[in-house]
Amino acid sequence: MTIHEIRQRYLDFFAARGHAILSSSSLLPENDPTTLFTGSGMQPMIPFLLGETHPQGRRLVDSQKCFRAVDIDEVGDNRHTTFFEMLGNWSLGGYFKVEQIKWMFEFLTREVGLDPKRLYVTVFQGNDELGIARDDEAIRQWQEQFASVGVDAKVGERILLYPEKKNWWSRSGAPDKMPIGEPGGPDSEMFWDFGAQRKLHENSQYKNEPCHVNCDCGRYVEIGNNVFMEYKKVVDGFELLPQKNVDFGGGLERIAVAKLDDPDIFMTDAFSLARVALEGVSGKVYSSDSDEVYAMRVILDHLRAAVFLIGDGVSPSNKDQGYFTRRLIRRAVRFGNELGVKDDFCSKIADAYIETYKSAYPDLVSSRDKILSELVAEEGKFRHSLDKGLREFEKLFATKGTVEGVDAFNLYQSYGFPWELTQELVGEKGQSVDKKIFEEEFKKHQDLSRAGSQKKFAGGLADTSEQSTKYHTATHLLHKALRMVIGDCVEQRGSNITPERLRFDFSFQRKMTGDEIANVESIVNEQIKNDLPVQFEMLSVEGAKKRGAIGLFEVKYEKLGNQIKVYTIGDDKRGVFSMEICGGPHVEQTGELGHFRILKEEAVASGIRRIKAVLE
Ligand code: ALA
Repeated sequence: MTIHEIRQRYLDFFAARGHAILSSSSLLPENDPTTLFTGSGMQPMIPFLLGETHPQGRRLVDSQKCFRAVDIDEVGDNRHTTFFEMLGNWSLGGYFKVEQIKWMFEFLTREVGLDPKRLYVTVFQGNDELGIARDDEAIRQWQEQFASVGVDAKVGERILLYPEKKNWWSRSGAPDKMPIGEPGGPDSEMFWDFGAQRKLHENSQYKNEPCHVNCDCGRYVEIGNNVFMEYKKVVDGFELLPQKNVDFGGGLERIAVAKLDDPDIFMTDAFSLARVALEGVSGKVYSSDSDEVYAMRVILDHLRAAVFLIGDGVSPSNKDQGYFTRRLIRRAVRFGNELGVKDDFCSKIADAYIETYKSAYPDLVSSRDKILSELVAEEGKFRHSLDKGLREFEKLFATKGTVEGVDAFNLYQSYGFPWELTQELVGEKGQSVDKKIFEEEFKKHQDLSRAGSQKKFAGGLADTSEQSTKYHTATHLLHKALRMVIGDCVEQRGSNITPERLRFDFSFQRKMTGDEIANVESIVNEQIKNDLPVQFEMLSVEGAKKRGAIGLFEVKYEKLGNQIKVYTIGDDKRGVFSMEICGGPHVEQTGELGHFRILKEEAVASGIRRIKAVLE
């Protein structure tokens, strides 16, 4: 069964059960400044899980493109990829555990045809302190399903209980990691058993205990997660959301590997054309126990991710999403060199992917030229840089008579010159180079750039140009003015700023009247005329709430520790106009903004309005 068949069967299965089929959102989140990439199917669903009405109804199904940059370094084993498709189905206040478990079991065992004897499930064991009990309902439903095919599913054998560290899902993880307002709940995961592989288990961190579903040896692979999302984090624990939701996410290719009964994800048809293309250009044969398998997997993964990212509009660069795209391509070239691939090859592999995915993602065909030319250009640039690095290496060697660990790092840093290459070249000269020093330098640099990107992303504002900063402050004025004119029911649902305009999404049930729009404009312009000071202070989340600060996106500030930044516009003398949780940056005085004008007020989804406005 191909991934395309599995995807289609899944969509059809849930469509037959009343679900609207949604097409995949972009890998670049539209209205979510908290993250650079869409990393799970539920990310675009947040407002609806919290209770907004979805225009397509209460039952939804899709296959969402996902990219997880954090997994770049994990790629190389038989199951990690940075890009993947996540099958998802949602119940927004409709069906709950009974239907979800029944349907999932039916889908896996009947539609896909997986042997139920090789399926295992995990269930939340409950936690008294949280006041949330063991999920007996889920246990009962699984037992019923397994019994229907003659499998006696005993707790502790086929149904495994785990605490919230394992069987709880929210965007930020376990209950203690969740910021206030974040939705989450206990989950129930499904695993496929590939059968014991002693050799793999001996390398596992659990090698001294028997293998279990969460072991890292690769015997079991998680193929899906049913999240029963009925809770919302509040100051002193949890409260029930206005509705009980189901959020299911399953790895399309992981279901495919279970069906193939081969744990190597790179053996699925998702990779077959690209694999053949890579074998063609490298003259090496892909095999999971060959010496080249690591390099081949990195190339196969990274170029597929790059194809989809460029397809969604990213160009390789030194910034944000472009930075990761560049890194993927350059790593692919580096590993290509390890395989002895000298020529331009990225675009050849990319073309194989476009062929593989063209029916499911026809956009790839229309962006084919752009995708291929970006890859050719980036590969060319990088190879050129490597050549310069090589010359620099020779120069260093000629002047110093040696190349040291620090030099190796400088070559890497300035020309992307890989450590392995330096080591090889030094070796050819009959010398050796100290890897420890290279690694120390590398780590120093990583710590620095991590600190830099934390600072950058903590604010959630990728573009800090002067004009964008003005729009950021104008957004705060607008937010407050909207609450004054149409009421406190206004809550921010999204914000997107470019140097040309601001865009602000908020909850409101109807179109605004002309008078309301004019009032909002004049309130904002009055605050600009008053030339109010803009300042921030660091407060705890609770402290900020007590002081009446507004701001919905607490989730993005959580990473700063317990302290959050709160921006105030106005002062004691003239009165505080607005107080909002925000990472900044902002202008110093509102007088800098110019004249504020609303261009458009429109609906984006049921109960969500969007304003576009400019500063003139
Ligand atoms: N949202 C859940 C996940 O990503 C289904 O695992």
